[in-house]
Amino acid sequence: MNESEQWWNTPAHQPDPDRARVAELSTMDLETPAFVYDEKVIAEDVATARDALAPTGAKLLFAVKAFSFEDGLAVMAPLVDGFHTSSLFEARLARHVIGDGIVHTTTPGLRPSDAGDIFELSDRISFNSVSQWQRFADAAVGRTSPGLRVNPRLSFVADERLDPCARNSKLGVPIDQLAARVRTSPQVLEGIEGLLVHSNCESIEFDDLLRLVEHLVDQLDPMLRRLKWVNLGGGYLFRDARDHTPLRKAVSLLRDTYGVEVLVEPGTSLIYRAGSLVTTVVDLIEGPGRDIAVLDVPITHVPEVLEFPFLPDVAATDGANRYLLAGASCLVSDQFGLHSFPEPLRVGSRVVISDVGAYSLVEASWFNGISLPTVYSRAPDGSVTLRRRYRYDDFLTINGGSHARH
Ligand SMILES: Cc1ncc(COP(=O)(O)O)c(C=O)c1O
Repeated sequence: MNESEQWWNTPAHQPDPDRARVAELSTMDLETPAFVYDEKVIAEDVATARDALAPTGAKLLFAVKAFSFEDGLAVMAPLVDGFHTSSLFEARLARHVIGDGIVHTTTPGLRPSDAGDIFELSDRISFNSVSQWQRFADAAVGRTSPGLRVNPRLSFVADERLDPCARNSKLGVPIDQLAARVRTSPQVLEGIEGLLVHSNCESIEFDDLLRLVEHLVDQLDPMLRRLKWVNLGGGYLFRDARDHTPLRKAVSLLRDTYGVEVLVEPGTSLIYRAGSLVTTVVDLIEGPGRDIAVLDVPITHVPEVLEFPFLPDVAATDGANRYLLAGASCLVSDQFGLHSFPEPLRVGSRVVISDVGAYSLVEASWFNGISLPTVYSRAPDGSVTLRRRYRYDDFLTINGGSHARH
Protein backbone atom coordinates (compact mmCIF):
# COMPACT_ATOMS: atom_id res chain seq x y z
CA MET A 1 0.00 0.00 0.00
CA ASN A 2 1.53 3.34 -0.92
CA GLU A 3 1.12 6.46 1.14
CA SER A 4 -1.61 8.00 -1.00
CA GLU A 5 -3.85 4.98 -0.35
CA GLN A 6 -3.56 5.11 3.40
CA TRP A 7 -6.40 6.34 5.57
CA TRP A 8 -4.41 9.22 6.91
CA ASN A 9 -4.53 10.91 3.55
CA THR A 10 -8.32 10.84 3.33
CA PRO A 11 -9.96 13.98 4.74
CA ALA A 12 -13.33 13.57 6.47
CA HIS A 13 -15.02 16.86 5.61
CA GLN A 14 -14.31 19.53 3.07
CA PRO A 15 -11.75 21.80 4.79
CA ASP A 16 -13.31 24.94 6.20
CA PRO A 17 -12.29 27.92 4.04
CA ASP A 18 -12.53 30.26 7.04
CA ARG A 19 -9.79 28.79 9.18
CA ALA A 20 -8.38 31.96 10.67
CA ARG A 21 -10.63 31.90 13.74
CA VAL A 22 -9.69 28.30 14.46
CA ALA A 23 -5.99 28.95 13.89
CA GLU A 24 -6.11 31.72 16.52
CA LEU A 25 -6.66 29.03 19.13
CA SER A 26 -3.00 28.02 18.81
CA THR A 27 -1.92 31.40 20.19
CA MET A 28 -4.22 31.42 23.21
CA ASP A 29 -3.35 30.67 26.77
CA LEU A 30 -5.18 27.34 27.12
CA GLU A 31 -4.45 24.22 29.16
CA THR A 32 -3.96 21.45 26.62
CA PRO A 33 -5.30 19.17 25.49
CA ALA A 34 -8.27 21.51 25.25
CA PHE A 35 -11.62 20.92 23.60
CA VAL A 36 -13.01 24.30 22.54
CA TYR A 37 -16.57 24.71 21.29
CA ASP A 38 -17.29 27.91 19.45
CA GLU A 39 -20.71 29.45 20.19
CA LYS A 40 -20.54 31.64 17.08
CA VAL A 41 -20.09 28.62 14.84
CA ILE A 42 -22.92 26.76 16.59
CA ALA A 43 -25.22 29.71 15.94
CA GLU A 44 -24.13 29.95 12.29
CA ASP A 45 -24.61 26.26 11.58
CA VAL A 46 -27.99 26.09 13.31
CA ALA A 47 -29.04 29.19 11.33
CA THR A 48 -28.05 27.48 8.07
CA ALA A 49 -30.23 24.48 8.90
CA ARG A 50 -33.06 26.77 10.02
CA ASP A 51 -32.90 28.76 6.78
CA ALA A 52 -33.02 25.57 4.75
CA LEU A 53 -36.04 24.32 6.69
CA ALA A 54 -37.89 27.62 7.07
CA PRO A 55 -39.99 27.35 3.90
CA THR A 56 -41.03 23.81 4.84
CA GLY A 57 -42.27 24.28 8.40
CA ALA A 58 -40.26 21.28 9.57
CA LYS A 59 -39.00 21.32 13.16
CA LEU A 60 -35.31 21.13 14.00
CA LEU A 61 -33.99 18.96 16.82
CA PHE A 62 -30.35 18.48 17.75
CA ALA A 63 -29.18 14.88 18.28
CA VAL A 64 -27.47 15.06 21.66
CA LYS A 65 -25.52 11.86 20.98
CA ALA A 66 -23.10 13.94 18.90
CA PHE A 67 -22.30 16.41 21.70
CA SER A 68 -23.82 16.52 25.15
CA PHE A 69 -21.74 19.03 27.10
CA GLU A 70 -24.35 20.80 29.21
CA ASP A 71 -23.19 24.39 28.74
CA GLY A 72 -22.91 23.81 25.00
CA LEU A 73 -26.42 22.37 24.86
CA ALA A 74 -27.62 25.48 26.68
CA VAL A 75 -26.24 27.55 23.78
CA MET A 76 -28.04 25.31 21.31
CA ALA A 77 -31.36 25.12 23.22
CA PRO A 78 -32.90 28.50 22.29
CA LEU A 79 -31.94 27.99 18.65
CA VAL A 80 -33.62 24.62 18.08
CA ASP A 81 -37.08 23.15 18.69
CA GLY A 82 -35.79 20.32 20.81
CA PHE A 83 -33.34 17.50 21.34
CA HIS A 84 -33.14 13.92 20.17
CA THR A 85 -31.88 11.48 22.82
CA SER A 86 -30.83 7.84 23.04
CA SER A 87 -30.93 6.91 26.72
CA LEU A 88 -32.38 7.84 30.09
CA PHE A 89 -29.40 10.01 31.00
CA GLU A 90 -29.47 11.89 27.71
CA ALA A 91 -33.22 12.37 28.08
CA ARG A 92 -32.77 13.76 31.62
CA LEU A 93 -30.06 16.13 30.48
CA ALA A 94 -32.06 17.18 27.42
CA ARG A 95 -35.22 17.87 29.42
CA HIS A 96 -33.24 19.82 32.01
CA VAL A 97 -31.65 22.04 29.33
CA ILE A 98 -34.54 22.43 26.86
CA GLY A 99 -37.34 23.11 29.36
CA ASP A 100 -40.62 22.96 27.43
CA GLY A 101 -38.96 22.10 24.10
CA ILE A 102 -39.34 18.74 22.38
CA VAL A 103 -37.47 15.68 23.61
CA HIS A 104 -37.63 12.73 21.24
CA THR A 105 -36.08 9.44 22.33
CA THR A 106 -35.25 6.22 20.55
CA THR A 107 -33.03 3.36 21.71
CA PRO A 108 -32.66 -0.26 20.72
CA GLY A 109 -31.71 -1.06 24.31
CA LEU A 110 -34.79 0.13 26.20
CA ARG A 111 -34.79 -1.45 29.68
CA PRO A 112 -37.86 -1.87 31.87
CA SER A 113 -36.03 -0.06 34.68
CA ASP A 114 -35.57 3.08 32.54
CA ALA A 115 -38.74 3.02 30.48
CA GLY A 116 -41.12 4.86 32.84
CA ASP A 117 -38.73 7.77 33.36
CA ILE A 118 -37.93 7.94 29.66
CA PHE A 119 -41.64 8.17 28.82
CA GLU A 120 -42.12 10.95 31.39
CA LEU A 121 -39.16 12.92 30.02
CA SER A 122 -39.86 12.43 26.31
CA ASP A 123 -42.65 14.04 24.25
CA ARG A 124 -42.18 11.32 21.67
CA ILE A 125 -40.60 7.92 21.66
CA SER A 126 -39.80 5.90 18.59
CA PHE A 127 -39.87 2.22 19.46
CA ASN A 128 -37.14 0.35 17.68
CA SER A 129 -39.08 -2.84 17.00
CA VAL A 130 -42.66 -4.07 17.05
CA SER A 131 -41.86 -6.31 20.02
CA GLN A 132 -40.42 -3.36 21.94
CA TRP A 133 -43.65 -1.46 21.24
CA GLN A 134 -45.81 -4.37 22.34
CA ARG A 135 -43.90 -4.81 25.59
CA PHE A 136 -43.99 -1.13 26.53
CA ALA A 137 -47.25 0.07 24.91
CA ASP A 138 -49.29 0.11 28.12
CA ALA A 139 -46.65 2.06 29.99
CA ALA A 140 -46.11 4.53 27.16
CA VAL A 141 -49.63 5.42 26.03
CA GLY A 142 -50.89 8.55 27.73
CA ARG A 143 -47.42 9.63 28.86
CA THR A 144 -45.66 10.17 25.53
CA SER A 145 -46.49 10.10 21.83
CA PRO A 146 -45.48 6.62 20.65
CA GLY A 147 -43.94 6.00 17.26
CA LEU A 148 -41.90 3.37 15.48
CA ARG A 149 -38.46 3.55 13.98
CA VAL A 150 -38.54 2.14 10.48
CA ASN A 151 -35.60 0.71 8.54
CA PRO A 152 -36.37 1.78 4.96
CA ARG A 153 -33.97 -0.79 3.54
CA LEU A 154 -32.64 1.83 1.19
CA SER A 155 -28.89 2.11 1.59
CA PHE A 156 -27.06 5.31 0.77
CA VAL A 157 -23.88 4.66 2.74
CA ALA A 158 -21.14 2.53 1.21
CA ASP A 159 -19.45 1.63 4.51
CA GLU A 160 -21.63 -1.02 6.20
CA ARG A 161 -20.41 0.02 9.65
CA LEU A 162 -22.03 3.41 9.14
CA ASP A 163 -25.13 2.32 7.21
CA PRO A 164 -28.28 2.22 9.37
CA CYS A 165 -29.86 0.09 6.62
CA ALA A 166 -27.04 -2.44 6.39
CA ARG A 167 -27.95 -6.12 5.96
CA ASN A 168 -28.00 -7.04 9.62
CA SER A 169 -29.06 -3.69 11.00
CA LYS A 170 -30.95 -3.79 14.28
CA LEU A 171 -32.18 -0.24 13.77
CA GLY A 172 -35.89 -0.05 13.14
CA VAL A 173 -38.66 -2.24 11.79
CA PRO A 174 -37.78 -3.33 8.25
CA ILE A 175 -40.13 -1.48 5.92
CA ASP A 176 -41.41 -4.59 4.17
CA GLN A 177 -42.33 -6.18 7.51
CA LEU A 178 -44.07 -2.98 8.57
CA ALA A 179 -46.00 -2.74 5.32
CA ALA A 180 -47.08 -6.37 5.80
CA ARG A 181 -48.29 -5.58 9.34
CA VAL A 182 -50.31 -2.67 8.03
CA ARG A 183 -52.01 -5.02 5.58
CA THR A 184 -52.48 -8.09 7.75
CA SER A 185 -52.52 -7.07 11.42
CA PRO A 186 -53.07 -3.32 11.69
CA GLN A 187 -54.43 -3.70 15.24
CA VAL A 188 -50.82 -4.29 16.40
CA LEU A 189 -50.01 -0.74 15.33
CA GLU A 190 -53.01 0.87 17.00
CA GLY A 191 -51.75 3.75 19.15
CA ILE A 192 -48.68 4.42 17.01
CA GLU A 193 -48.66 8.13 16.18
CA GLY A 194 -45.41 8.64 14.31
CA LEU A 195 -42.46 7.24 12.40
CA LEU A 196 -38.73 7.87 12.72
CA VAL A 197 -36.42 7.10 9.84
CA HIS A 198 -32.68 7.77 9.95
CA SER A 199 -30.74 6.31 7.06
CA ASN A 200 -27.73 8.38 6.08
CA CYS A 201 -24.35 9.54 7.33
CA GLU A 202 -22.65 12.87 6.61
CA SER A 203 -24.46 13.11 3.30
CA ILE A 204 -24.45 16.30 1.26
CA GLU A 205 -27.09 14.96 -1.12
CA PHE A 206 -30.64 15.79 -0.07
CA ASP A 207 -31.71 13.88 -3.19
CA ASP A 208 -31.23 10.79 -0.98
CA LEU A 209 -33.78 12.16 1.48
CA LEU A 210 -36.31 12.83 -1.25
CA ARG A 211 -35.86 9.28 -2.56
CA LEU A 212 -36.35 8.00 0.96
CA VAL A 213 -39.58 9.92 1.48
CA GLU A 214 -40.92 8.78 -1.90
CA HIS A 215 -40.12 5.23 -0.81
CA LEU A 216 -42.03 5.71 2.48
CA VAL A 217 -45.00 7.11 0.58
CA ASP A 218 -44.88 4.21 -1.84
CA GLN A 219 -44.65 1.51 0.86
CA LEU A 220 -46.54 2.93 3.82
CA ASP A 221 -49.24 5.22 2.41
CA PRO A 222 -52.13 3.71 4.46
CA MET A 223 -50.13 4.00 7.65
CA LEU A 224 -48.93 7.56 6.95
CA ARG A 225 -52.57 8.64 6.63
CA ARG A 226 -53.10 7.83 10.31
CA LEU A 227 -49.97 9.43 11.75
CA LYS A 228 -49.33 12.74 13.51
CA TRP A 229 -45.60 13.10 12.93
CA VAL A 230 -42.67 11.85 10.89
CA ASN A 231 -39.09 12.35 12.06
CA LEU A 232 -36.59 12.18 9.19
CA GLY A 233 -33.55 11.65 11.42
CA GLY A 234 -30.09 13.12 10.93
CA GLY A 235 -27.22 12.16 8.66
CA TYR A 236 -27.16 15.23 6.37
CA LEU A 237 -24.73 18.18 6.41
CA PHE A 238 -26.83 21.28 5.81
CA ARG A 239 -23.92 23.68 5.31
CA ASP A 240 -22.00 21.45 2.93
CA ALA A 241 -25.02 20.37 0.86
CA ARG A 242 -25.10 21.91 -2.59
CA ASP A 243 -28.86 22.08 -2.92
CA HIS A 244 -31.62 22.24 -0.31
CA THR A 245 -34.43 21.95 -2.87
CA PRO A 246 -34.91 18.16 -2.51
CA LEU A 247 -35.09 18.59 1.27
CA ARG A 248 -37.94 21.05 0.87
CA LYS A 249 -39.70 18.76 -1.61
CA ALA A 250 -39.34 15.81 0.77
CA VAL A 251 -40.87 17.69 3.69
CA SER A 252 -43.66 19.17 1.54
CA LEU A 253 -44.55 15.76 0.18
CA LEU A 254 -45.18 14.52 3.71
CA ARG A 255 -46.86 17.64 5.07
CA ASP A 256 -49.06 18.36 2.07
CA THR A 257 -50.16 14.78 1.48
CA TYR A 258 -50.62 13.63 5.06
CA GLY A 259 -50.80 16.76 7.20
CA VAL A 260 -48.15 15.32 9.52
CA GLU A 261 -45.69 17.33 11.55
CA VAL A 262 -42.19 16.77 10.16
CA LEU A 263 -39.01 16.88 12.20
CA VAL A 264 -35.33 16.48 11.41
CA GLU A 265 -32.65 15.75 13.98
CA PRO A 266 -29.10 16.29 12.74
CA GLY A 267 -26.19 15.85 15.10
CA THR A 268 -22.92 16.22 13.18
CA SER A 269 -24.18 19.01 10.94
CA LEU A 270 -24.85 21.39 13.83
CA ILE A 271 -21.70 20.79 15.85
CA TYR A 272 -18.77 19.35 13.88
CA ARG A 273 -17.31 22.71 12.80
CA ALA A 274 -17.76 24.22 16.25
CA GLY A 275 -15.38 21.86 18.03
CA SER A 276 -11.56 22.03 17.98
CA LEU A 277 -8.90 20.18 19.93
CA VAL A 278 -5.93 22.29 20.88
CA THR A 279 -2.89 20.14 21.57
CA THR A 280 0.79 20.60 22.41
CA VAL A 281 3.76 18.76 20.92
CA VAL A 282 5.40 16.89 23.80
CA ASP A 283 8.09 15.00 21.91
CA LEU A 284 9.77 14.81 18.52
CA ILE A 285 11.09 11.50 17.24
CA GLU A 286 13.20 10.94 14.17
CA GLY A 287 11.48 8.07 12.41
CA PRO A 288 12.77 6.03 9.49
CA GLY A 289 11.77 8.25 6.59
CA ARG A 290 9.83 10.87 8.48
CA ASP A 291 9.69 12.84 11.69
CA ILE A 292 7.10 12.02 14.27
CA ALA A 293 5.58 14.67 16.52
CA VAL A 294 3.95 13.27 19.66
CA LEU A 295 0.94 15.28 20.87
CA ASP A 296 -0.42 15.47 24.40
CA VAL A 297 -3.80 14.09 23.27
CA PRO A 298 -4.55 10.40 22.57
CA ILE A 299 -6.55 9.25 19.58
CA THR A 300 -9.08 7.88 22.07
CA HIS A 301 -10.28 11.47 22.53
CA VAL A 302 -11.27 11.53 18.85
CA PRO A 303 -12.00 7.82 18.42
CA GLU A 304 -13.74 8.18 15.07
CA VAL A 305 -10.36 8.96 13.49
CA LEU A 306 -9.43 5.39 14.36
CA GLU A 307 -12.82 3.68 13.93
CA PHE A 308 -13.71 5.09 10.54
CA PRO A 309 -10.26 6.11 9.46
CA PHE A 310 -10.11 9.66 8.23
CA LEU A 311 -7.48 12.36 8.15
CA PRO A 312 -8.38 14.99 10.74
CA ASP A 313 -8.07 18.58 9.68
CA VAL A 314 -5.16 20.44 11.25
CA ALA A 315 -5.83 24.15 11.11
CA ALA A 316 -3.46 26.45 9.23
CA THR A 317 -1.19 23.76 7.86
CA ASP A 318 0.77 24.06 4.71
CA GLY A 319 4.45 24.08 4.08
CA ALA A 320 7.58 22.03 3.75
CA ASN A 321 7.81 20.61 7.26
CA ARG A 322 6.03 17.29 7.23
CA TYR A 323 5.33 15.21 10.32
CA LEU A 324 3.43 12.14 11.29
CA LEU A 325 1.31 13.37 14.20
CA ALA A 326 1.14 10.69 16.87
CA GLY A 327 -1.09 10.59 19.93
CA ALA A 328 -0.12 10.34 23.58
CA SER A 329 -1.24 6.77 24.34
CA CYS A 330 0.56 3.45 24.01
CA LEU A 331 -1.67 2.29 21.13
CA VAL A 332 0.46 1.62 18.07
CA SER A 333 -2.33 2.97 15.87
CA ASP A 334 -2.64 6.18 17.90
CA GLN A 335 -1.86 8.46 14.95
CA PHE A 336 -3.47 11.56 13.47
CA GLY A 337 -1.84 11.22 10.04
CA LEU A 338 0.71 13.12 7.98
CA HIS A 339 0.54 16.91 8.09
CA SER A 340 2.66 19.78 6.80
CA PHE A 341 3.55 22.93 8.68
CA PRO A 342 5.07 26.25 7.59
CA GLU A 343 7.65 26.13 10.40
CA PRO A 344 9.43 23.15 11.97
CA LEU A 345 7.56 21.88 15.04
CA ARG A 346 9.29 22.12 18.41
CA VAL A 347 8.43 20.60 21.77
CA GLY A 348 5.83 23.06 23.05
CA SER A 349 4.41 23.92 19.59
CA ARG A 350 0.63 24.03 19.41
CA VAL A 351 -1.33 21.94 16.91
CA VAL A 352 -5.06 22.58 16.47
CA ILE A 353 -7.24 19.74 15.19
CA SER A 354 -10.38 21.33 13.78
CA ASP A 355 -13.89 20.15 12.86
CA VAL A 356 -14.02 17.55 15.62
CA GLY A 357 -17.08 18.84 17.49
CA ALA A 358 -19.20 15.77 16.74
CA TYR A 359 -18.76 12.42 18.50
CA SER A 360 -15.42 13.37 20.12
CA LEU A 361 -16.12 14.55 23.63
CA VAL A 362 -19.04 12.11 24.00
CA GLU A 363 -16.86 9.17 23.01
CA ALA A 364 -13.61 10.22 24.65
CA SER A 365 -12.29 7.68 27.13
CA TRP A 366 -9.80 7.62 29.96
CA PHE A 367 -7.62 5.05 28.23
CA ASN A 368 -4.10 5.00 29.68
CA GLY A 369 -5.39 7.17 32.51
CA ILE A 370 -4.93 10.22 30.30
CA SER A 371 -7.30 12.93 31.44
CA LEU A 372 -10.14 14.05 29.19
CA PRO A 373 -9.43 17.39 27.54
CA THR A 374 -10.13 20.58 29.43
CA VAL A 375 -13.29 22.08 27.96
CA TYR A 376 -13.56 25.74 26.97
CA SER A 377 -16.31 27.69 25.26
CA ARG A 378 -15.55 30.48 22.84
CA ALA A 379 -17.88 33.47 22.70
CA PRO A 380 -18.73 35.30 19.48
CA ASP A 381 -16.23 38.07 20.44
CA GLY A 382 -13.47 35.43 20.40
CA SER A 383 -12.88 35.22 24.14
CA VAL A 384 -12.61 31.80 25.76
CA THR A 385 -14.01 30.60 29.09
CA LEU A 386 -12.87 27.50 30.96
CA ARG A 387 -15.92 25.27 31.50
CA ARG A 388 -14.54 22.02 32.89
CA ARG A 389 -11.19 20.74 34.02
CA TYR A 390 -11.05 17.02 34.70
CA ARG A 391 -9.08 15.80 37.70
CA TYR A 392 -7.74 12.66 39.29
CA ASP A 393 -10.98 12.44 41.28
CA ASP A 394 -12.94 12.02 38.05
CA PHE A 395 -10.63 9.21 36.99
CA LEU A 396 -11.01 7.62 40.39
CA THR A 397 -14.80 7.88 40.25
CA ILE A 398 -15.15 5.96 37.03
CA ASN A 399 -12.72 3.38 38.37
CA GLY A 400 -14.73 2.79 41.51
CA GLY A 401 -12.36 4.70 43.75
CA SER A 402 -13.68 4.57 47.30
CA HIS A 403 -12.47 8.01 48.26
CA ALA A 404 -13.62 9.80 45.12
CA ARG A 405 -15.57 12.90 46.02
CA HIS A 406 -18.62 12.41 43.77
C1 LIG B 1 -31.92 8.15 15.11
C2 LIG B 1 -30.79 9.09 14.86
N1 LIG B 1 -31.05 10.40 14.73
C3 LIG B 1 -30.05 11.30 14.51
C4 LIG B 1 -28.73 10.91 14.44
C5 LIG B 1 -27.66 11.93 14.21
O1 LIG B 1 -26.97 11.66 13.04
P1 LIG B 1 -25.84 12.63 12.49
O2 LIG B 1 -24.92 12.95 13.60
O3 LIG B 1 -25.17 11.82 11.42
O4 LIG B 1 -26.53 13.82 11.92
C6 LIG B 1 -28.43 9.53 14.56
C7 LIG B 1 -27.03 9.08 14.49
O5 LIG B 1 -26.67 7.96 14.71
C8 LIG B 1 -29.48 8.60 14.79
O6 LIG B 1 -29.24 7.29 14.93
